[in-house]
Parts: sequence; C-alpha cells; structure tokens
Amino acid sequence: MLPAYLPNPVAALCGGGLPVDLGRNFTDGRRLLGDGKTCRGLIAGILAGILIGLVQIWSAARFGWDYLPQQTLLSITLLSVGALLGDMVKSFFKRRLGKERGAKWPLADMYDLVVGAFVLLLVFDYGWLVANVTLPLLVVILILTPVLHRAMNIFGYLIKVKEVPW
Ligand code: CTP
Ligand code: MG
Repeated sequence: MLPAYLPNPVAALCGGGLPVDLGRNFTDGRRLLGDGKTCRGLIAGILAGILIGLVQIWSAARFGWDYLPQQTLLSITLLSVGALLGDMVKSFFKRRLGKERGAKWPLADMYDLVVGAFVLLLVFDYGWLVANVTLPLLVVILILTPVLHRAMNIFGYLIKVKEVPW
C-alpha cells in the first residue's frame, strides 16, 4: 500500500500554486475542487508513489522478498494515481455538500485514497488485485488506514505543513 499511502503526505509537503480546477466554479457556484487540490501536489504525489513502488520492485528482486505482494509497474502506477484521483473525487463531492476546503469529513477523508486505488486496480488490473489483496489483508488495510491517516495528519499539523490536524 506504500505507493497509495505516500502521495497524500507528499502532496501536502509539495502542494501549492495552480489549483487543478484552475479556480473555476461548478454550476452550484462553489469551487469545482478547491484550493486544496493543486497541480504541483498532484504531480509530486504521484511521482513519489511511483518512486517508492520502484524501490519495492527493486528490493523484492534484490532481497528475494517473494512472500510479499509482488508490485509491477502497472500496480504501483494504479495505486499512486488512484490514491490522488480518489482524493480529488472526494473533494468534488465535499464541495457539493458545501464543506469548505480543509473541513472535516471523517470517513471520506480517510478512505478516499483506498477506494480510488482499489477502483483503478479493479478496472485495470483485476488479476493483480485478487491475487495480492486477500481478505485478511483487506481487513488490515481497513484498520490501518484511519490510524495512519490520523497519525500523519497530527504530525503534519505539528510541523506546520497542514493547517488542521485532520
Ligand atoms: N494537496 C495538493 N494537491 C493535491 C492534494 C493535496 O496540493 N492534489 C495539498 C494541499 O495543500 C492540501 C494539503 O495537501 O491543503 C492536504 O490535503 P487534503 O487534506 O486532501 O486537502 P484539504 O486542504 O483538506 O482539502 P479538501 O477539503 O478538498 O480535502
Ligand atoms: Mg483534508
């Protein structure tokens, strides 16, 4: 899950500048995505996810870690792109609900990246998904994700990368 977990914190670190929605509004008069989704955050986050995935592929071959799920170029790309696509789709619906950028939306804020990554895998690499994400692993992911998400956001808030601790 590293290629899916890394893009969000890296986007928070590197984000800023041109928003993905170019500042435009939706038909309801609210922002399409908001200033929290920027091109720089998107690109840096995706690259970071793919990079950590490449390290996984390299180290699996180097150290013979064949008991771990075997990443491929496709799987790391789908995990990384899917994580931030999920994050943007979440922000789209968050704005439609009238929630401002950075407002709390508990379950959506935590699982957006997992849903996004898994939907892309489901569509573009179903074989990899069923071969590697077993039911026990899925349970671990569903428990670990909110814990990591909360811990990382509190950390990001303390080091002043994030404006809110969620
Ligand atoms: N970020 C970014 N580009 C992205 C995703 C995140 O630049 N594609 C940066 C932004 O600076 C953002 C921060 O990472 O403020 C934290 O991300 P997130 O919590 O997802 O955004 P929010 O500001 O909470 O916005 P939203 O309410 O839309 O989720
Ligand atoms: Mg947020």
